[in-house]
Amino acid sequence: MNDLPRTDFSVKPTLIGEEVLLRPFLLDQDAPVLRSILRDPEVGRLTGSDHGPADPEPWNEAAEERMHVWYGTRHEQSDRLDLAVVERATGSCVGEAVLNQWDSDNRSCSFRIALAVAGQGRGLGTEAVRLTVGYGFERLGLHRISLGVFAFNPRARRAYEKAGFVVEGVRRDVLLYDGAWVDDIVMSILAPEWERHRGHPEAAQ
Ligand SMILES: CC(C)(COP(=O)(O)OP(=O)(O)OC[C@H]1O[C@@H](n2cnc3c(N)ncnc32)[C@H](O)[C@@H]1OP(=O)(O)O)[C@@H](O)C(=O)NCCC(=O)NCCS
Repeated sequence: MNDLPRTDFSVKPTLIGEEVLLRPFLLDQDAPVLRSILRDPEVGRLTGSDHGPADPEPWNEAAEERMHVWYGTRHEQSDRLDLAVVERATGSCVGEAVLNQWDSDNRSCSFRIALAVAGQGRGLGTEAVRLTVGYGFERLGLHRISLGVFAFNPRARRAYEKAGFVVEGVRRDVLLYDGAWVDDIVMSILAPEWERHRGHPEAAQ
């Protein structure tokens, strides 16, 4: 991937890994899984979009419409990259991986990812992180990619660490979930680090 020419965020690539591939959304195929992620209270807890069991997001026609508009317009975005994570063995979408909050002057971006339950805990997330981050550095020319992970999400933190993100600080009491304050751990990865280990820091040590 690193020998290919630089591109920009208006291009929506397909990135092929061993277990997963990342591609633009195909709403006809992907909607059931995307809907299940948006409706899953545990994903809502882990991503900070829910504030507790007493804060259910009602799923109704308006929510369905919002989902269709959102995923139906991701290919039009020229300042961010939203891709479906697809399990190659089944051809099914298992979630999404996103580079957003692009700061062009400082060549930085944020990263986020969410997989449905069926895709979790099998290494697919780590591979999707590596594919997205690698594309960000090698094709989009980014220098820094950062993210926040809540302290109650050690699985995500571990997946990010496996792909090369390092902890750079803690934003205290960022989330109020079910009456308790939760810290947000800030992690980042820089282009020279990626250059050194290409998403496999433990193998490079
Ligand atoms: C976070 C997410 C992308 C990770 O992807 P994944 O495919 O489930 O994770 P992987 O299987 O690639 O890796 C998980 C790692 O965490 C480890 N792990 C799992 N539970 C853990 C826990 N409670 N504490 C510490 N490590 C844990 C696993 O053992 C594995 O590490 P290993 O390979 O060294 O054994 C995915 O679980 C997800 O989308 N979850 C729901 C939404 C979410 O949390 N999004 C991120 C918000 S910041």
